[in-house]
Amino acid sequence: MAVGITALGTYAPQRVLTNQDLEKMLETTDEWIVSRTGIRERHIAAENEFASTMGVRAVQDLVRRHPDALAGVDFIVCATSSPDALFPSTAALIGGEVGLAGVAAYDLSCACSGFVYACATAHGFIAAGIARRVLVIGAETLSKIVDWQDRGSCILFGDGAGAAIVEAVPEGYGFQSFALGADSAGGPSLYMRAVADRIPGVEKDLMAPKVGMNGREVFKFAVRVLGDSGQQALTKAGLAPADVDWLIPHQANVRIIDAARERFGIPEEKVVVNLERYGNTSTASIPLALQEAVDAGRVKDGDQLLFVAFGGGLSWAAGCLKWYGGAGAMVTGAAAEVSA
Ligand code: ACO
Repeated sequence: MAVGITALGTYAPQRVLTNQDLEKMLETTDEWIVSRTGIRERHIAAENEFASTMGVRAVQDLVRRHPDALAGVDFIVCATSSPDALFPSTAALIGGEVGLAGVAAYDLSCACSGFVYACATAHGFIAAGIARRVLVIGAETLSKIVDWQDRGSCILFGDGAGAAIVEAVPEGYGFQSFALGADSAGGPSLYMRAVADRIPGVEKDLMAPKVGMNGREVFKFAVRVLGDSGQQALTKAGLAPADVDWLIPHQANVRIIDAARERFGIPEEKVVVNLERYGNTSTASIPLALQEAVDAGRVKDGDQLLFVAFGGGLSWAAGCLKWYGGAGAMVTGAAAEVSA
């Protein structure tokens, strides 16, 4: 059974925080941030906006684009590193707001790898007959969990949300492979506490309830795993880097993306990058980049996509997807007829 993405929607909060704004808050410069990361500005949630509020906005955008998209949704997976609460899940909160109360819903936590993990989860549910149409969401209010005193990390992050419908698509389209992983040995390089007062490898006085990060370690890790996991996903799908029409990476740092791209030998013009306007929005970054590329007519029916992501865990996730450009045609119920 072929399973792919048939609808997308996104949301970014209204407030924009530029590098020039950051110059007034921290000892930093626009020049340093652009040359080290490629980021020029990011969107920041309002005081009363949270992951669920933003996820709802992304789902509303999806419904605006594909009016029947929520009909028959029987599972909601929300990938988030900044949930409103540990419970109720952000997925359940969003479901309640968009008319899907009663539908199975849970949150998935693996930091910035979350959107690709959630797509893999949705694919597995559908292939196993557990669900037929899954609403996958990535929603983040990272601005509420970063340490705004730490110039080495806070300049990277922004807020945003993306939503996708994952369901059966015609044969020849859809997800062809995933390569997922996680290794807690890298945990001390990127972490945030929750209930426990200890994280293995993290000194107790660094256990503030804010994102802690060793940028250089994460950088090295990211370049390595983006290359390795992307290659694994391609090999599993029987593809080579030359077959990729669009590399859609997690939008963390343009230098990381460039280094990973060079490892593959994928040319710059085949990479979707929009981090200059959003920063790193964690689980929202791949849908935000994908949506822009589809809207701009860059990603077209039948294009070969490669998603690559990394994040806290440390975790990694890559996936090959043959883009189904008939998105919208499938969201009327035809998908429900396809059997496993
Ligand atoms: N402005 C000016 N100077 C700064 C800033 C800043 N905002 N931040 C750090 N510096 C200084 C440092 O203090 C250091 O000074 P020193 O040499 O006197 O000690 C110098 O700049 C260089 O610091 P580095 O850490 O070596 O800079 P680097 O080139 O590695 O860039 C960065 C730092 C941008 C954080 C980079 O390492 C990076 O992007 N790492 C990956 C981080 C990442 O992607 N995290 C998200 C993961 S996804 C998730 O799951 C959340």
